[in-house]
Amino acid sequence: MNRRPRRNRKSQVIREMVEETRLSTKDFIFPLFLIEGSRQRSEVASMPGIYRNSLDLMLKEIEECLHLGIKAFDIFPAYPDSKKDKFATESYNPDTFYLEAIREVKARFPEAVVMTDVAMDPYSSDGHDGLVENGKILNDETLEILGKMALAQAEAGADILGPSDMMDGRVGHIRQILDRNGFKDVSIMSYTAKYASAFYGPFRDALDSAPKMGDKKTYQMDPANYKEALIEAELDTLEGADFLMVKPALAYLDVIRLLKDHSNLPIAAYNVSGEYAMIKAAGEKGWLDPQRAMLESLLSIKRAGASVILSYFAKEFAEIVKN
Ligand code: PBG
Repeated sequence: MNRRPRRNRKSQVIREMVEETRLSTKDFIFPLFLIEGSRQRSEVASMPGIYRNSLDLMLKEIEECLHLGIKAFDIFPAYPDSKKDKFATESYNPDTFYLEAIREVKARFPEAVVMTDVAMDPYSSDGHDGLVENGKILNDETLEILGKMALAQAEAGADILGPSDMMDGRVGHIRQILDRNGFKDVSIMSYTAKYASAFYGPFRDALDSAPKMGDKKTYQMDPANYKEALIEAELDTLEGADFLMVKPALAYLDVIRLLKDHSNLPIAAYNVSGEYAMIKAAGEKGWLDPQRAMLESLLSIKRAGASVILSYFAKEFAEIVKN
């Protein structure tokens, strides 16, 4: 035998030399859940190790993460029902606790990159990402609301906006509003290929943001579809997105690779709540080694072509690297 691939696997040093994919703490954006008040902290039942924090505790968490080398955060607010309405009005109230928190995080940690979520669901009494009328999600009327929300987030100091709503034309609409108001440097990471997925379940528990009626299939993509992701990618690119995101990650590695091969924009992948929960739950049962399963999953997302990974494992990963 002239060729023996095992020679390149014979020791740790050689294996590391030929390693094709390497994860770094710099690859990550860490999603954080924010609640109103102070000294408030509650664990998300379906996401062991992940907490909803009030701003004071979130600032501590961010400080710890910065020391570990995690520099980017995607902050999601959990609003009580009393603050929700049909039009998600609270989302662009300049005094709302979410926007206050963004201002405070940027004031305390100017080096941190803060990403925000642009979608109506945490503020909507219907629990949908868009405006609901007679059981239908209205696209263009939703854009008006998203535009106000995006502008309020940019004014609060967000570095990257993440439109996660899947309305048509939202990236272009938001880009135009940002530019007209002097926010030319605020980036857009578009949820380009966001699928109607069962893997968002624990996130909706965390924010109490499940749709009150129906599902999200008229705006989020059908898991059966692959080429359709190219249509979304083409539109988001023309409309001015700075990053294209695929979500979820693990069941859509093929879509990550597809966008990577067809676009020159950086590709992000969202390793979602359900993907986190599965590994944690199996680990708790002793059915697999959760740390190895985590590392292997994260590696697969990067290998598929993602240069940015949004993951609830970000901090745990950084702790492993540090030790
Ligand atoms: C809301 C939004 C969702 C997630 C991020 N932004 C949920 C949804 O679309 O229902 C899911 C994140 C996760 O599951 O970790 N627009």
